[in-house]
Amino acid sequence: MTDRARMRLLVAAVSIGLLQLLLQLHRPQHSLHQHHDDSPSPAAGAAAAAAAAADAYAAAAGPSSAPLVDVWILAGQSNMVGWNKADGQPMPQLCAPWPGEILAFNSTGEWVDAVPNVHTGIYDYPDQDSCGPDMAFARTLIQMGAARKVGLVPTAMGGTNLFQHWAPGGQLWSNMVGRTQAGMHQMAGRGRLRGMLWIQGEADGAGSMQQAFDYGSNFTAWLAATRSALSALHPQLPVLMVIMATRQRSIAFPHIDIVAAQQRALQLPGLFKLEMTGFEFYPMDVGLPGGEAELVHLTKAGCAALGVAMGYLVASKDGLQCSS
Ligand SMILES: *[C@@H]1O[C@H](CO)[C@@H](O)[C@H](O)[C@H]1NC(C)=O
Ligand SMILES: *[C@@H]1O[C@H](CO)[C@@H](O)[C@H](O)[C@H]1NC(C)=O
Repeated sequence: MTDRARMRLLVAAVSIGLLQLLLQLHRPQHSLHQHHDDSPSPAAGAAAAAAAAADAYAAAAGPSSAPLVDVWILAGQSNMVGWNKADGQPMPQLCAPWPGEILAFNSTGEWVDAVPNVHTGIYDYPDQDSCGPDMAFARTLIQMGAARKVGLVPTAMGGTNLFQHWAPGGQLWSNMVGRTQAGMHQMAGRGRLRGMLWIQGEADGAGSMQQAFDYGSNFTAWLAATRSALSALHPQLPVLMVIMATRQRSIAFPHIDIVAAQQRALQLPGLFKLEMTGFEFYPMDVGLPGGEAELVHLTKAGCAALGVAMGYLVASKDGLQCSS
């Protein structure tokens, strides 16, 4: 890592710490959404970037229209889902539901108030007692004034690779596209597709070295196919990609460093990136003879902090508007 990258990481970490503090101080009551208009959040006041994002939003929504729901696709593998029942932590406040403000498109195709875990029922995912970055992401967007309401379309599945499982036209990809289209259709003009959160890559670091080296070209083709399939809903779907952490993960995912390097090197319009390094993982026994534990999954606190960071990034970039 270069000094500049290190400095950026430090600045991001400090910003996230400050934001978390603000969010802690500003715990929303469930009735807050009824007074959202006349009770400005301290977090929004603290960040000039958030104000700019809110202006951009207001301009896009038009002065007279009812608040739109900003819809985000959740795709990738287990750290997008949130796989942290076993971390021994309580559910963070940042993962708490916010009825009427944070919505999720459930497994049987209805918009409901989002509750952790939003992936419950998707691919038979059973676990209620864990949380992905999604809830904190949505909460941050709203509290920073970058969105009025947020709708989440969960489509991730643990252990899946980009190389094969997420191939355009395949089951995971088709389900992701289909659920997004169905969710937007049900919004009946009350929603607008804003982008995708993509947390994926471990599985491409667990196969052959060639598969890991193919990550960049595979993702480039994948993004083109995805944008083409969703072009009626967004002219150039923005994607926020989380770059794989590599520390203490090389036994479970021997080529994860190659995948991370591929992700870091990708330069595509409308592709935004955030490093996963530095967020909290919990040690997991991966069945090694020596019993060494690997850092496979983020904790609930780690997911919540990552979600805040993702929300902060989106808000600071005017909702990831793509100009090109
Ligand atoms: C999805 O939401 C609808 C409407 O609230 C509900 O009837 C349905 O049971 C939900 N599906 C699941 C799997 O919970
Ligand atoms: C990934 O790249 C490899 C080699 O270039 C190719 O065989 C494979 O079909 C690609 N997969 C996807 C999903 O594009």
